[in-house]
Amino acid sequence: MSQPTIESILQEKRVFSPSSEFSQAAHIKSLQEYQQVYDRAKADPEKFWEELAASELHWFQKWDKVLDWQPPFAQWFVGGKINISYNCLDRHLTTWRRNKAALIWEGEPGDSRTLTYAQLHREVCQFANVLKQLGVKKGDRVGLYMPMIPEAAIAMLACARIGAPHTVIFGGFSAEALKDRLVDAEAKLVVTADGGWRKDKIVPLKEQVDKALANNGAPTVENVLVVKRTAQEITMEPGRDHWWHDLQAGVSGDCPAEPMDSEDMLFILYTSGTTGKPKGVVHTTAGYNLYTHMTLKWAFDLKDTDVYWCTADVGWITGHSYIVYGPLSNGATTLMYEGAPRPSNPGCLWDVVEKYGVNIFYTAPTAIRALIKMGEEHPNARDLSSLRILGTVGEPINPEAWIWYHRIIGGERCPIVDTWWQTETGGFMITPLPGATPTKPGSATFPFPGIIADIVDLEGNPVEDNQGGYLVVKHPWPGMMRTVYGNPERFRRTYWEHIPPKDGKYLYFAGDGARKDEDGYFWVMGRVDDVINVSGHRLGTMEVESALVSHPAVAEAAVVGKPDEVKGEDVFAFVTLEGSIDASEELEKELKKHVVGEIGAIARPGEIRFTDALPKTRSGKIMRRLLRNLAAGEEVAGDTSTLEDRSVLDKLRGGA
Ligand code: PRX
Repeated sequence: MSQPTIESILQEKRVFSPSSEFSQAAHIKSLQEYQQVYDRAKADPEKFWEELAASELHWFQKWDKVLDWQPPFAQWFVGGKINISYNCLDRHLTTWRRNKAALIWEGEPGDSRTLTYAQLHREVCQFANVLKQLGVKKGDRVGLYMPMIPEAAIAMLACARIGAPHTVIFGGFSAEALKDRLVDAEAKLVVTADGGWRKDKIVPLKEQVDKALANNGAPTVENVLVVKRTAQEITMEPGRDHWWHDLQAGVSGDCPAEPMDSEDMLFILYTSGTTGKPKGVVHTTAGYNLYTHMTLKWAFDLKDTDVYWCTADVGWITGHSYIVYGPLSNGATTLMYEGAPRPSNPGCLWDVVEKYGVNIFYTAPTAIRALIKMGEEHPNARDLSSLRILGTVGEPINPEAWIWYHRIIGGERCPIVDTWWQTETGGFMITPLPGATPTKPGSATFPFPGIIADIVDLEGNPVEDNQGGYLVVKHPWPGMMRTVYGNPERFRRTYWEHIPPKDGKYLYFAGDGARKDEDGYFWVMGRVDDVINVSGHRLGTMEVESALVSHPAVAEAAVVGKPDEVKGEDVFAFVTLEGSIDASEELEKELKKHVVGEIGAIARPGEIRFTDALPKTRSGKIMRRLLRNLAAGEEVAGDTSTLEDRSVLDKLRGGA
């Protein structure tokens, strides 16, 4: 099995339509209905979103203006007052959902917990009061470095309740990466746990926080709240560190949600880009609430009776939008799982599906490929008949994996919803609507209503059908990121000026290459910039290069993605060493460890190749295209005439 190639995808002609029973019961019932909704939204996007904002969400105060668009800066529902925690919790308490399961949690060692809407509301209010007691005020940033436990969702909702933007830092990031993010966000408080379970091992989260804060590493952090999860020995610094359960005990469960301006910041989430340090993607309150609510409702055809499970980590946007905010805003039952398939328990996901009767299951192609390797006997031995929709996200799905997912997991009856979107977009942008859209394996199909997407060249001109180009969005949408935290210029440059605006018309540049086929289906091919996608995690090659050159033995480093059967891409590093230092296996190991320490295990290079020199152009630019060919074990393709020293290439080949 391999990643989709242009050839394999061009040959992919199969079409799968939902059954008529499925379509009849769906929110959007036919392609014709989708087209009508789409056309209506396209004709007047503001009216379209305004009607949904009024019918789907609770507002403390109505907006004065739907959209204020000062390209590239958008404001949605200007003048409105809203609170997403109110929409996710309080408004359900006056309905039959009060005692409905809001959050079902399955822990890695087999413990579990279910919180009803009333119970979740109480815990969130209590924790919001804890935050207030520690001096956290509206506008203060709170860092969350958590395992996949209910307290992660509780903390996010508590922050939203009092208007303190959270910044969740994935628990797999190193102390160094954690520190960088806490410093950039100027976080006032950190919420963490003593440890978290990850594939039969304990991740020492609190120890990493201690390292990040050592020597005044993140000077704005005043307090650390610690959930007891794994119960291993940790150090608690008096005055700074507090146990969650100590402070939560006895605190009032009454904490009215703060009416927030529509455009008040809800959270910052860091993501990798082409240059420099990861950027803080800023999402605000009302537009994000509406967008995650509507996209989940229609793309996963969410029903009140559904048990919905997204396997992402809350440290990524998928966890934010589609474990916490989207599902709870809809009053759904959302399942959170601390574990992951591993050789010691290859059938664990299917046990969870069976145990809770999961109806909607959402995961990533890399997970599907890993599950295929583990063997179909594991899903086949479980009852998966409760499943009715399967989703995928994070990278292009190869048709073989799509078909396996459809056949083995979905029993050929579940529509596959391949959702293309990004941290920056807040929610799904291109996705099938399962009762309406005939699907083609490997295609994310059509834009969501209200999204005007296209494929263009670098001048912004639309390209012909089936011609590859750059994926762009032509009109603002409520869930879009508003800026890069503290760096609006970077926001403008990265996303809105890469393809220069024409006649005042701005295009959002997603960084992905794609094509549209003769039926209007979008086929996303992958990143066109120096971002690689390792197991669905986004990594800037430059971040890994900076980590490598921060080691004293390294003179220069160039990192590229190498195609990988399961991960999609793996990190492949070419390294030149400082004068007197010799390459060795020991050093290779040490450098890999160094990268893990600087960024986290997700960035560990699969392979490091030592070399005397890197292939460069006469102007000194590293020729990454050649390195990508070499990493993939392919012939070096294309023009090499700009190479400064051809012998470098021959030597690198020799080492292959
Ligand atoms: O390259 C695209 C790929 O993941 C990138 C966004 O990564 P991130 O911000 O980490 O968000 C991941 C989860 C939303 C995109 O630029 N990508 C995401 N979904 C798909 C995809 N590529 C192809 N098909 C998808 N369904």
